[in-house]
Amino acid sequence: MSLSTLGVFESYRTFYGESPSLCILTTVLGFVVTALIWAQIEQALFDDPTQPPVVRYYVPFIGSMVEFGMDPIGFMRKHREQHGDFFTFLMFGRKMTVCLGSRGNDFLFNAKHSCVTAEDAYNNLTKPVFGADVVYDVPNSVLMEQKRIVKAGLSTKSFQRYVPMIIKETNDYIDKHWTKDEDTIDIFKAISELIIMSASRTLLGKEIRAQLYEGVADLYHTLDSSFTPIHFLFEWLPLPSYFSAPKAHAELESIFAKVIKARRLETNRESVDMLDVFLTSKYKDGTALTDLQATNMCIALLMAGQHTSAATTTWALLNLANQDNVRNGAYNDMKRAMGEDLPYPEFENLKDLQTLDDIVRETLRIHPPIVQVLRKVVKPIPIPESSHIIPAGNYLMASPVIAATDKAHFQDPETFKPSRWSQQDEAAEVEAEDKNSENTVNYGWGDMSLNSAKSPYLPFGAGRHRCIGEQFAYIQIKTILYVLLKRFDFKLDEKRGMPKSDYNSMVVLPEAPVSCRYIRRK
Ligand code: HEM
Repeated sequence: MSLSTLGVFESYRTFYGESPSLCILTTVLGFVVTALIWAQIEQALFDDPTQPPVVRYYVPFIGSMVEFGMDPIGFMRKHREQHGDFFTFLMFGRKMTVCLGSRGNDFLFNAKHSCVTAEDAYNNLTKPVFGADVVYDVPNSVLMEQKRIVKAGLSTKSFQRYVPMIIKETNDYIDKHWTKDEDTIDIFKAISELIIMSASRTLLGKEIRAQLYEGVADLYHTLDSSFTPIHFLFEWLPLPSYFSAPKAHAELESIFAKVIKARRLETNRESVDMLDVFLTSKYKDGTALTDLQATNMCIALLMAGQHTSAATTTWALLNLANQDNVRNGAYNDMKRAMGEDLPYPEFENLKDLQTLDDIVRETLRIHPPIVQVLRKVVKPIPIPESSHIIPAGNYLMASPVIAATDKAHFQDPETFKPSRWSQQDEAAEVEAEDKNSENTVNYGWGDMSLNSAKSPYLPFGAGRHRCIGEQFAYIQIKTILYVLLKRFDFKLDEKRGMPKSDYNSMVVLPEAPVSCRYIRRK
């Protein structure tokens, strides 16, 4: 301790007598008050007019974290009114520049990779879950190739195989768990189990699916628990999940290794799932994916689709349970498309189930599971049509739900109204942007319209990082909804009503417990 510090303590002791706790308390209070005052002086004096406006905060370092964390959507809407489509807020020492509306979406999704990257924003969060050497743990050019391989694997031929598998998984689950004629259950838990079983069966194969009840589901769950905002914020904290996730991952890898070894011994094996696709695909330079990459790509796909599809299916069911006319309309439309006795659909039939399609679309408009799309700025980037430049080191955050629930684009935006998608005006605006393909770009996994990022409806993102699981998600969700509606009617639990959104996970979920009543159809 320096002499001057000793001197300060000495004078404190003289002043406070022999009471060290009072001395410590006063010192701490002194620091806090100085920090609070400094935060105000800093914001007043060092406001940089070349950067987007900053949301005022009172506590240094923590910034607006509490207000944002409690209600991110409310926070973004409120500050958009004050500052416009681009503004910055402080969150645990990180400067987050929010990019909203069609301009903001277009800016983030179409930003050049030399200026803005997803891997610098996400890899700390995703590597413990997905594993090494895939997605954000490889250079962007390799990710683009991995996406090309996935896209080729999610083909019409594989979807034709998957639909009967999803139907079987759903029926087996219902027969086993929903045995009463009528019951109130935790619908999110049930749907999550249905999603993990059907995705494991279709994407990972029957061997991994067979081991779900022998511990694999627990391993997924352990990985999953490190997929929270706290892991984005505190990469340096010794959280328990930083130790449990790599352990769970290593166990999953050894389970996959045995499956892969057995498959490699089979001669003339037909490709039936995504694991086969990864084991037989090659990068452009002719090298094959390693066994570890094949394993981790499977885990990444499963994890990317798990909460997103489970939350979407659950919100869709809750909204159906809440609106008799929409639910009955969907049921009657299923009969119109498939016949009075509702035979199980094949892949080709799914496109005729228009009402189910509209229900999924509308659910994704109001309850998109991903409300924060992140990037890190690695080179200063100017905001078009403004004098602002976002410096390197800031994070960008887009939230497509803001445009999707803006009355400038959708009438009565907070109301769940699937029929809006069959009505011309609103759907036309979305499709006009999607279909305007004069200005296209190919990032290595298919043509993308540059204009699509301007659409007010982007639940699957846009640009080089656009979701590649959209078609699979629609097929899985529509098939599960069809089977459930064929066999049961649903009513909202009157005591609970519609749940609120829970923002504690990176994917927005309905707040637990999510109860809903099923009634078996006679
Ligand atoms: C990326 C949404 C289901 C695989 C994304 C992104 C969004 C999204 C918004 C872009 C993230 C960004 O730009 O940072 C959804 C929704 C889903 C869904 C709403 C379901 C309703 C799935 C499924 C799979 C999947 C089922 C796999 C089969 C991926 C992958 C990426 C991704 C691998 C990363 C792409 C990249 O960074 O280049 N998803 N997703 N998603 N999604 Fe999905």
